[in-house]
Amino acid sequence: MLNTDLTGKRAAVTAGANGLGLVIAETLKDAGADVYVCDIDPEAINSLPSGLTGTVVDVSDPDLVDGWLLNIVKDGIDILINNAGISGPTAAIEDISTEDWQTCLRTNLDAMFFCSRRVASAMKKTNDGVIINLSSTAGFLGMPLRAPYVAAKFAIVGLTKTLAMELGPHGVRVNAIAPGSINGPRMDRVIAAHAETDDLEVEDVRRMYTRGVSMGRFQDPDEIADLILYLTSDHGRSINGQLLSVDGHTETLYPRDM
Ligand SMILES: NC(=O)c1ccc[n+]([C@@H]2O[C@H](COP(=O)([O-])OP(=O)(O)OC[C@H]3O[C@@H](n4cnc5c(N)ncnc54)[C@H](O)[C@@H]3O)[C@@H](O)[C@H]2O)c1
Repeated sequence: MLNTDLTGKRAAVTAGANGLGLVIAETLKDAGADVYVCDIDPEAINSLPSGLTGTVVDVSDPDLVDGWLLNIVKDGIDILINNAGISGPTAAIEDISTEDWQTCLRTNLDAMFFCSRRVASAMKKTNDGVIINLSSTAGFLGMPLRAPYVAAKFAIVGLTKTLAMELGPHGVRVNAIAPGSINGPRMDRVIAAHAETDDLEVEDVRRMYTRGVSMGRFQDPDEIADLILYLTSDHGRSINGQLLSVDGHTETLYPRDM
């Protein structure tokens, strides 16, 4: 019988007011953890389900991250879920502006550095802690038209491996998760942008994405949250430095023979 009781644990979830982050935050809360969520969207923060503590923070701003996390860390921190990540531009490399590139890297990658460095000392002190970074299947397969997103998601795997080596001796585990395509509004937006850029029908693009998955389907957010629950509980006590895919086995994100 799995025991995933997190009573007494304190968890921080970035971009936890919508989408995957909200499902993760609620899952950790339902397992008994005290969950602190940040998000850039004030309306979503104001309408968080009861039991979640929300703060408006843009994770790409290190000062705002410090203000949020140092306030939590002073009373202890056991779990950090680095979930925030934007899609970035869908465009050929020659059409990507410097600003769009930098915003994507800063939100998807730099923010994980800003957050991880603020919890590391506290976790080392208690010789315990779990950090989970959201990468993507794009973070090991690559994908045309999404250069900054893919670059960030690959880099997250390097960051994860390095932090696992650095913090592992102090009892802190650091892993990355690679979701496949998740059913929900974000994938709807990604598919619509891809269809527009490549001048294709939305349903053709959706079929193309599905065809690249061995199991022939997208995943649901709770499949990611369930793995996070496992990793944050005692069952995950020896899992460190891994990139774990929850993607039905994605063979390619860009089948060329549609
Ligand atoms: N949805 C998918 O299919 C999918 C697939 C692979 C990986 N992922 C990864 O999973 C994570 C969550 O994805 P999602 O689908 O829930 O995303 P989403 O686009 O639904 O966004 C979730 C939240 O991020 C918040 N946010 C955006 N910029 C922010 C910032 N600068 N600071 C703080 N909050 C910010 C938004 O307000 C929103 O509440 C991301 O890292 C994403 O790259 C998602």
